[in-house]
Amino acid sequence: MDKSERLRILDVISEHIANDTTADAGGILRVPMSDFTCPQLAEQERDVYFRNTALCMGISSALPKSKTYWSDNGTGTPILMVRDGKGRFRAFANVCRHRGSPIVPEGRGSKVRFTCPYHAWTYGNDGSLLAINKQNHFGDVPREELSLFELPSAEIHGTLWVRPSQGEPVDEAECLGGLEGDLEHWQFADFPYTLTRVIDVRANWKMAIDSFFENYHVDVLHAKSLGNEMKANLQTCEVFNKNLRAVFPSQKLDLMRFLSVNMDRWPYPQIVTTMYYLYPNTIMIVDSFGVGLLQFFSIEGSPSKSRTIYSWYINPKLQPLFEEAGYSYEESASRFEDVVVNEDYKMIENVQLNAERGTSPEILLGRNEAALQHIHNILRSGVGRDLLPVEKN
Ligand code: FES
Ligand SMILES: [Fe+2]
Repeated sequence: MDKSERLRILDVISEHIANDTTADAGGILRVPMSDFTCPQLAEQERDVYFRNTALCMGISSALPKSKTYWSDNGTGTPILMVRDGKGRFRAFANVCRHRGSPIVPEGRGSKVRFTCPYHAWTYGNDGSLLAINKQNHFGDVPREELSLFELPSAEIHGTLWVRPSQGEPVDEAECLGGLEGDLEHWQFADFPYTLTRVIDVRANWKMAIDSFFENYHVDVLHAKSLGNEMKANLQTCEVFNKNLRAVFPSQKLDLMRFLSVNMDRWPYPQIVTTMYYLYPNTIMIVDSFGVGLLQFFSIEGSPSKSRTIYSWYINPKLQPLFEEAGYSYEESASRFEDVVVNEDYKMIENVQLNAERGTSPEILLGRNEAALQHIHNILRSGVGRDLLPVEKN
C-alpha cells in the first residue's frame, strides 16, 4: 500500500462523500438463515476452516525474540508456537508423544525446553524429544521418532500462520492473496504485542465477523459511541482473492476536506481505519493507535456459539507517548470491548435467536454491505456450497 494507493483510497472516499454514494456497483445478496443455524454446516466449517486451513494466528511480535513460545488452544487444537534458537517461527501440536497430555499450559514466555506435566518427558523448542524420564524403567523407544508433531507454519510479512493439522506446507501466496504490498507497508512486526481478550457470544461466528465489516449501522446502533468518531455508511471494499480490504473514514476526514484540498497532506492513519479480512476467520483493524487482530471460531461445534479472540498490538511510535501519559492497555481494550459486547454482540445474539425461531428464511445484504457479500460467498465456496447470486438493481 504505497502513497499513491493511499491517495487513491482517499480520493474514492471523497468522491463517495461528494456524490452521496457508498458503492456504485453490485446489488442485493440473500443469505439463507440456515447458514447461521445448521449444525451439519457448523461441523463442516469447523473441520475445513479451523482444522484444515492455514489461520493467521497473530503478528510476529507475539513471539518477540528467539526462544520465546506461545501456547494457544483457540483453534480447538492445542498449538505450541515457538521461535527457535535461530529466530525461526515453528508450530507443533502441543500433545505429548507419551500419553497425549498437553505439554505447555496456555500462555506465553521464554523457554528452550518443555517438560510434560504428566510423566516429565522433555522436549526441545525444535520439537525433538530430549529425554524420557526414568527411561531404564520405561523401556527402549526410539527418541528420534517421537518428536512433537510439527504443524505447517509460516511467517509472512509480519504475520504468523499455522494450519492446525499436519500436511502440506502453508501456501504463503494464498494466505495473503495480493495483500503483500499492504503488509509490507504497515511493518506490523514492529508493533509490540500488548494483550489478548476473549469474548464469547451466543451467535454464529460468521455473524460476529459481519458486525465488523459494514458501517451502515454505525450512526444507528452506535449512535452514542463509535458513531461520534466514525462516519457512517461510507466505506471502500476491495477484494484480494479470498481476502479483502475495507477502509472506513473517521469524522476527522471532514475536517481535512475543509482544511486542505491537497490530499497529499492528509494524515491517512489518523483519518481512516483500514480493515482486512484474512480468509477464513481473521480480521485486522489498523488505526493510528495500532492493530487489533481478531480471530473468530465456532465453539463446541455449535452453529449458535462463537468465540472472538482479540489481541492488540500498539503502534511503536505511539507506545512511548502512551506509556508516558500513563494510559493503560487494559483500559483501551475495555473501551473497544464495551462497544463490541454491549452493542454489536448484544444485537447479534437477538438476530441469532430470530434465525433459530425460523420466522424469516433469509437476511438481505445491500450494495453498501459488499464486504459481507464477499465473506459469505467465499465461506460458502470453501465448504463446497453454491455461490449466492447478487441480484442487480
Ligand atoms: S503424557 Fe507426557 S510424559 Fe506422560
Ligand atoms: Fe458495530
